[in-house]
Amino acid sequence: MYIFNRKFRKQTIYERREELIQIEPKPTDLELSASNPGKDLLDLANIMVENAYGTFAIPLGIAQGFLIDGAEVNLPMATEEPSVIAAASYAGTIITKSGGFTTWGGSTEMTAQIYLLGAKKEHCELIQSKEEEIKKLIQPILSGMEKRGGGYRSLDCHWFDSKQVLRIHVHIDVKDAMGANILNTAAESLTPYLEDLCKASKILAILSNEASQHSAGAKFSIALNELNRAGYKGREMAERIVSAYDIADLDPARAVTHNKGIMNGITALALATGNDTRGLEAAAHRAAVRDGQYRSLSKFWIENEHLHGSLELPISLGTVGGAVSFHPGAQLNLKILGKPSSSQLMRYAAALGLAQNYAALSALATEGIQSGHMKKHAARLAYQVGARGDFIPKVQDYLMEKNKFNLEIAKQALEELK
Ligand code: MEV
Repeated sequence: MYIFNRKFRKQTIYERREELIQIEPKPTDLELSASNPGKDLLDLANIMVENAYGTFAIPLGIAQGFLIDGAEVNLPMATEEPSVIAAASYAGTIITKSGGFTTWGGSTEMTAQIYLLGAKKEHCELIQSKEEEIKKLIQPILSGMEKRGGGYRSLDCHWFDSKQVLRIHVHIDVKDAMGANILNTAAESLTPYLEDLCKASKILAILSNEASQHSAGAKFSIALNELNRAGYKGREMAERIVSAYDIADLDPARAVTHNKGIMNGITALALATGNDTRGLEAAAHRAAVRDGQYRSLSKFWIENEHLHGSLELPISLGTVGGAVSFHPGAQLNLKILGKPSSSQLMRYAAALGLAQNYAALSALATEGIQSGHMKKHAARLAYQVGARGDFIPKVQDYLMEKNKFNLEIAKQALEELK
């Protein structure tokens, strides 16, 4: 393996790219150009992360056909996985025909936490009594946020007896911002005051990604007679979807894949808008284990001759701040979304996650997902053997017709078709 120059960190991004050609095995021209989006975006990559040498392009698409709270919405998605956008659009369209999604929630309150060692349980009350001073201390940090209607909301403390740890939570409304910097600055700036007050020492001061106040939800209902699919009549189809949901609620080994399907939609929207996908996913899985067992995040049931689906989970998304504000890709996608508020974006994400889940369950409970996947797989094979432009669908059709999917057949198809 080629080991990069120890001065890599100090080099310009262009010098780092020059060194790239020395790696073994040698990079191809396509690999090099795939990581080079041009000067402006290389400069952007360089200010976004350390040791940057380029960018990593992920396909962007739009899930169409979504009616959310009475309005039609385009949902940009960044994902490397085939069939995800098609599945979302399929479910979005079907659900829209039945009245679309109703959503709720999307509070923009976040939490900064400070953990102290050496404090006592009684300090909880003392800290609560100092709320006004604490508010004053962080007011300068929050003044910008207050102008936008956000700012300090409340304070609470928790004593962990087993480890003699005191936790202080400061709840702050960050409005449309991602808020990470403000929350972390607030937590760190309160630390000396709290240490002094409790004669204790800080062990951690950081925002919490749990985002329990950020819950956003979406629901829909479809009349049973609209649900016929793959030879299954509406009621049977609905019962199969509910059984698939029951299994995810029962068995963590299935729930992980079920919830992964939900996150296929939510994470793709978060990535397309420059949001933190890891915090979002950690919070979702924390919610999935809310009663001690890892379960389905969504619910499906039959009532009044309708199939009902619903999803509620913490979804922390911003529409200003962090990468959202300066990444041109994120800015374009926010324009495609019609410049939503962050709370609107969280509710869109809930609808998209639910649509994704409905599409997966309705395919899995009937014909399975592979037939849809194979078409895209065939296109990927065509690309891998060198097909470009019109030759991609031609090689794809050839493979589909032969029902054979490997690089050798794809190469043979390309040679025959050229
Ligand atoms: C694939 O990315 C997602 C699914 O596995 C979700 C599920 O099984 O519910 C299809």
